[in-house]
Amino acid sequence: MFLMRTRSWNNKSLLLILCLTGLYLSTNGVMILIPHHIVSATVNESATLSVEYRCNGVPTIRWKQLSAWGMKNIITWEPGNYQNISESYEDRVQKYRNGSIQLSNVQLYDAGCYVVTVTDKAGSSKDGVIVLNINEPVYKDLHFVAVVTTVLMAVSIVLMFFLWICNQIMQLCKMKGRAQRVNASTDMELSPL
Ligand SMILES: *[C@@H]1O[C@H](CO)[C@@H](O)[C@H](O)[C@H]1NC(C)=O
Ligand SMILES: *[C@@H]1O[C@H](CO)[C@@H](O)[C@H](O)[C@H]1NC(C)=O
Repeated sequence: MFLMRTRSWNNKSLLLILCLTGLYLSTNGVMILIPHHIVSATVNESATLSVEYRCNGVPTIRWKQLSAWGMKNIITWEPGNYQNISESYEDRVQKYRNGSIQLSNVQLYDAGCYVVTVTDKAGSSKDGVIVLNINEPVYKDLHFVAVVTTVLMAVSIVLMFFLWICNQIMQLCKMKGRAQRVNASTDMELSPL
């Protein structure tokens, strides 16, 4: 299953992973696999920080956020035993059997480094790091553009109507002037008689 999953990756990362896996297995019994070290999400959407671990016995899994303000605990759990979720994450973190977590309703302040630590009963542990990027939604800008376009279109329609009215009035004036001139010339022609 592990090999099948890695087959789609390129050869270099496959080699690197095999080396690292060998290194992990030779040093201690805990192993963390992270398919994507950089994850992107949009404001108000959810982000999955996906990992998989291998270890003997029941581990303790701990997720922390590393930001400019320091380390912040998110969730710590021992599968089947207990879980401890930080107050600020209570309603918006979900854990998965493979050690992954999902943050829902992410905001700009969620951007940063996330560190997962898996510790086994013998006390050996491994860390994994995932960087989370948060994008601002694009539709706000699009909405603004749509509003501006509508306003500009309305203004130009009003302007065109105004020009048309002006044009009509000018035509009317011209016709009146011509009619007056015609009247005057007929008067002049008639007066000597
Ligand atoms: C872990 O489980 C979650 C939920 O089932 C899944 O979305 C994620 O892809 C899994 N991670 C790995 C590395 O298999
Ligand atoms: C849960 O976290 C709180 C605050 O970080 C800590 O005081 C408490 O001892 C923890 N409980 C367990 C069972 O780890």
